This record gives sequence, structure tokens and C-alpha cells, in this order.
Amino acid sequence: MKISFVKPGLPSKGAVVVTAFDNRKLSAGAAEADEACGGAITRAMANSRFKGGKGQILEIAAPANVDVSRILVMGLGALKDIGDLDVEALGGRAVARLNASGEGQATLLLDPIGEARDAGRDAALAALGAHLRSYRFDKYRTKEKPEQKPTLKGFTVASAAHTAAKKAFAELEAIASGVFATRDIVSEPPNVIYPESFVERAKELTKLGIEIDVLGEKEMKKLGMGALLGVGQGSTRESQLLVMRWNGAGKPKAKGKAKPAKADQPVMVVGKGVTFDTGGISIKPAGGMEDMKWDMGGAGVVIGLMRALAARKAKANVVGICGLVENMPDGNAQRPGDVVTSMSGQTIEIINTDAEGRLVLADALWYGQETYKPKAIVDLATLTGAIIISLGHEHAGLFSNDDGLSEQLTTAGSSVGEKLWRLPLGEAYDKQINCQVADMKNTGNRSAGSITAAQFLQRFIQKGTPWAHLDIAGVTWSNEDKPSVPKGATAFGVRLLDRWIAAEHEK
Ligand code: BES
Ligand code: MN
Ligand code: ZN
Repeated sequence: MKISFVKPGLPSKGAVVVTAFDNRKLSAGAAEADEACGGAITRAMANSRFKGGKGQILEIAAPANVDVSRILVMGLGALKDIGDLDVEALGGRAVARLNASGEGQATLLLDPIGEARDAGRDAALAALGAHLRSYRFDKYRTKEKPEQKPTLKGFTVASAAHTAAKKAFAELEAIASGVFATRDIVSEPPNVIYPESFVERAKELTKLGIEIDVLGEKEMKKLGMGALLGVGQGSTRESQLLVMRWNGAGKPKAKGKAKPAKADQPVMVVGKGVTFDTGGISIKPAGGMEDMKWDMGGAGVVIGLMRALAARKAKANVVGICGLVENMPDGNAQRPGDVVTSMSGQTIEIINTDAEGRLVLADALWYGQETYKPKAIVDLATLTGAIIISLGHEHAGLFSNDDGLSEQLTTAGSSVGEKLWRLPLGEAYDKQINCQVADMKNTGNRSAGSITAAQFLQRFIQKGTPWAHLDIAGVTWSNEDKPSVPKGATAFGVRLLDRWIAAEHEK
């Protein structure tokens, strides 16, 4: 779907999309359209439940006296309550409705929304919502009938601030390219995306200026990554550790010191990349196991984030690391009772081979800290089913050793509609993973499963490094459409981390 920006004015073809507020108050564009079609909007409102409330839509097909094929009136609710996400949702909802109606072209007449808001930015935000909602993963559907396919080919925003809007949209489109890259790779089936093919996709990012390093099993063995390697040992696919670097703030200068100057330290983002999680020998039940193709969602976010940063030329140095493995049962698979030695030197007794994500992250986190001495670490992982019990699909779980970092991430998330909810860490929880046989075990008891998983990760964070863990198991995949997120892979985390880096690490 093509997005464009033009001067205000009624279009001569396709649908016209206009806005209204509470109590059926029409925007200037809506009033203009109403007059052009002889009061069709006023009459339709009088004969419907449409009140201009947030999310309400009134559709008028084939209005008289005008060339447009239909009028869509989008409710925005009360003026004082309209925020960025509402403007974005407006674009997204319009696209969904027009595709359902079979429309080919649409023009949104967007007047300035109140005096406090930036009209150019709002036009860009509405376009962003439209763009994000138009995403579709249909490459394996060969038999779709034309009436099952989306029809909308063009979405135009008409605004007096169209020049500023176009400029603002270029940056948002760069971020959206990262969101789409994540949705694409997370949606792929697990026979297509496995550790090595994941790496192949990441290599496309070198075109944008991202540097890539890949460690195979031989290299990881040399480094002593027994925790990650143990998870992958039952798979015929080779495990991989993928490192992506974006040096948008300039290459760090080697000064002959062991630890780089604070300004040169990168931000590090680490993703769980279990390309399929059967559970291993502690095998999962069959029902719903296909969902475990998206157990690489954290790694998928890292790849999309790196693309977004490079596409918008972010002025920050960021290292993205993905621990990529397939967790399979096999004659060579890891057993409950096995003891593995992680790169950190700490030993782990495997109690449940299905608690594999933390094992992968343990070595990925340690390797990243040893190699890059990051100034802050965020990891993302579809780590526990328990986080879905706690928070459902509304918030991702946030765990951190740093209040400032927690605040920053929560703020960034709420401004882009990717909400976080912080859960506690503490010694009493940490005790749950103490072990008789080794330094720790890979599961706690039945209580507080998401917290004990986070405690496990914290044992691999070096002293003094601000770290946050996002448990995204409940938000990586959506079974329902949201205004700017169609059902399927959400890419939750890409926009949040892009915003966080822009706000905190590009100053
Ligand atoms: N990948 C799963 C967690 C998960 C569950 C993600 C549902 C998305 C949806 C993870 O590897 C896992 O299996 N965790 C176990 C841990 C348990 C064995 C301690 C779980 O949550 O049951
Ligand atoms: Mn598992
Ligand atoms: Zn898993």
C-alpha cells in the first residue's frame, strides 16, 4: 500500500476519510465533505448510533453529488483526550475498514486536531497507523480468492502541513521497516527459519551499514558456552550466536584501556532465538505446539530493531545479540539431570529441558558483556508461560536491577503502545534456584515462575551494569487485530527500544 501526502481538499476518486468528535461534532474537513454531498453525513448520523466516540466509524457508500466512492467518518472522542496513539489508531482503523469494504484508494482529510498538537506530526502518525495495519504475511497462501485479499492500494493524507508530514513520516517509515522485518521473520514457519537461515536473513542488514559476526558451534565450544550448546545438541540444525553492530555515534576508539570510556560503551540488546521449542526431552504437549515457532520472538525484535536504527541512521552505538538454537528431543538431546558449564564458569543442573531460553541467554549475555562492556543491557525473551498467567496479553513483564532504566523503558513503551509492567526481583526468589548438585538449577518450584527465570538471568549480569529483562511471551503473537497491529506477529519491542534509544542514548 502506497502512502502519500497532499494539500487539503476533497479527492476526486476513491474513499474520503474524515473525522468527528464527541456529540457528533464534525471536523472542518468533515463539514466540507458533508456540504459537498448535500448533507449526507448529517443525515446518516441522525439515523445511526454514531456519536463521534473514539473508535466509532460511520460509512456512507456512493454519496450523491460527489466523485468519491464512499465517505468514512472516524470518531475521535473528546478533543482533550486525544493522544499520539489515537491519531495512529485512526489511520489503522480506516485501513482495516476500507479493506473490508473493498475500497481501492483513500484520502484522509486531517485538519489540525486542537491547538496543542503538531499538525504535520499528526498527519505522519495517522499514515504510520495506516502503514502498520496494512501489513500482511501471505506468502504461503497460493489459493486466496480476490475477495479474500486486501484491496487498498493507496492511502493519502491531505493536510495543510503536508510537507512537514512527509518529512516526519520518512523517519517513522524507517522504524516501520524494522517492525515489518520482525513480523516477517517471526511469522515464518520453523522449517524455514532455523539458526543458520536466521543468520542469513540478518546478513541482508550489512547493506544498511550493520556489521555482523557469527559464531558457530565450534567457536562457542572454544568459549565454553555449555549452557547454550546443551540446548541445541538435540537438533540437527547448528546453533549460532549472531552479533549485529550499528555504530551510528562513530566507531569506538581503542584507547589501550581495558574498559572503554563511558561515551564509547555501546547499548546492548540480547534476544532469545529458539527457532522451535519442543521442550526437548521434557517435551511439551501436542496441543498448540506450533506456537513455539515464535519462540525466537526476542531475537526477531533484535533484528528488526537493528534495521530500524540503521534505516533512520540513529546516532547511537548499539550491539544486538541473538542466541539461536532449536530445542529438540533426540538421542543426543540434553537430559534432565545433566550438569552444564556456562561461559561464565557457573554450573547449572538441568531440571527441565523446557526451561531452555534462560540457558541460551545466560551464555549470550555473558559473551556480550565480556566482548563489549555495554553501558546498559536489555534482553527480550518469550521466556515463560507464567508471564501470560500474570499479565495476559496486555503488558510485557519487566524485570530490572535499575529503577532509572525501568522508568525509561516503561515511558518509551507507553508512548508507542507497547506497555510494560514491572515485577520484583529479590533474594528470596533467587534462593529457589539454589542447587545441591551445581551452582544453580534451571527451574525453581511452582511459584513465581517468571521471577525465578529472571533471577536466573540476573546471575549472568556483571556487577554494576544496568540491565532489564522483558518477558514478551504474552505479547509477541496476537490472536486479535489491534488498530495498528494486525493479528499474528506483533514485533512488540521494536518501537519501544527504538524510542528508548532515541530518547536516552542519542543525546
Ligand atoms: N518458550 C517457553 C515459554 C512460552 C510459553 C512462550 C508459552 C510463549 C508461550 C519456554 O521455553 C518454556 O517452555 N518455559 C517453561 C518453563 C518451565 C519449564 C519452568 C514454561 O513456561 O512452562
Ligand atoms: Mn521451553
Ligand atoms: Zn522456549
